[in-house]
Amino acid sequence: MNLFKFPKFSLLKPKNAPNDLSWKIFKYISTITFPADYSHPHFFSSKASAGSIGRSSYHAEVEKAVNEQIVAEFNAMYMYLSMASYFGRTDVALPGCYGFFMDMHIEEHEHGLIFLNYQNMRGGKVVLGNIQLAPDKICWDGIRSAFATAAEMEKSIKDKLLAVNCVAEKHRDYGVIDLITSYFIPAQDRSICEMSRLLQRITKMGKEGVAEYLFDKEVHTAFVQKGPKPYIPDYPNAEKDAANKKDLYI
Ligand SMILES: [Fe+2]
Repeated sequence: MNLFKFPKFSLLKPKNAPNDLSWKIFKYISTITFPADYSHPHFFSSKASAGSIGRSSYHAEVEKAVNEQIVAEFNAMYMYLSMASYFGRTDVALPGCYGFFMDMHIEEHEHGLIFLNYQNMRGGKVVLGNIQLAPDKICWDGIRSAFATAAEMEKSIKDKLLAVNCVAEKHRDYGVIDLITSYFIPAQDRSICEMSRLLQRITKMGKEGVAEYLFDKEVHTAFVQKGPKPYIPDYPNAEKDAANKKDLYI
């Protein structure tokens, strides 16, 4: 019988691991999450989470909703990466917006990883769905269109978070409720506010080359040069949130 073991970040491919992309993905995840046992016969099967030893009062619907949120966060990451790539082009060349959206892409990656680690911590099974974005079909038409899309996307992510919270409330999963209401919703409200303010400023300034140049310079000074977290903590749990975020990287 193959007993459950906890190898420490063993990246050697075990004999019974499938020789396809899923192995490469798990190998990548293993470098950023806590150790997993790839030699366990159920690791790659759909039965993994149902009998997980670490599972406690974790409903399958909540697990599914958390997986959907992981994909939503990685979708947003990919969208911001598409925007950053556009502003970094030689025929666009707006370094402020490039840096800003590159930072946003890192932030969304972090959000996805927080949910991913949380899923594992609760004894659930992470299922990474497809990212729906097709970057080759997206042609950004200047700064305003990018910020308008970003503002709408942040609002839709908040709606998705509220939907996950509804599922968690249905099953009285206070761990998920706390994660979403104490950390993610306040962070999402700040992002919506930040994107909306920037969208309003570029709308007022106009689409001319000089306006875009000045706006980009402003973004570079206010966000990129000073680092990716320019906000001033303006709500009671800001420090606690930061501590929680750190703790979630197990
Ligand atoms: Fe996010």
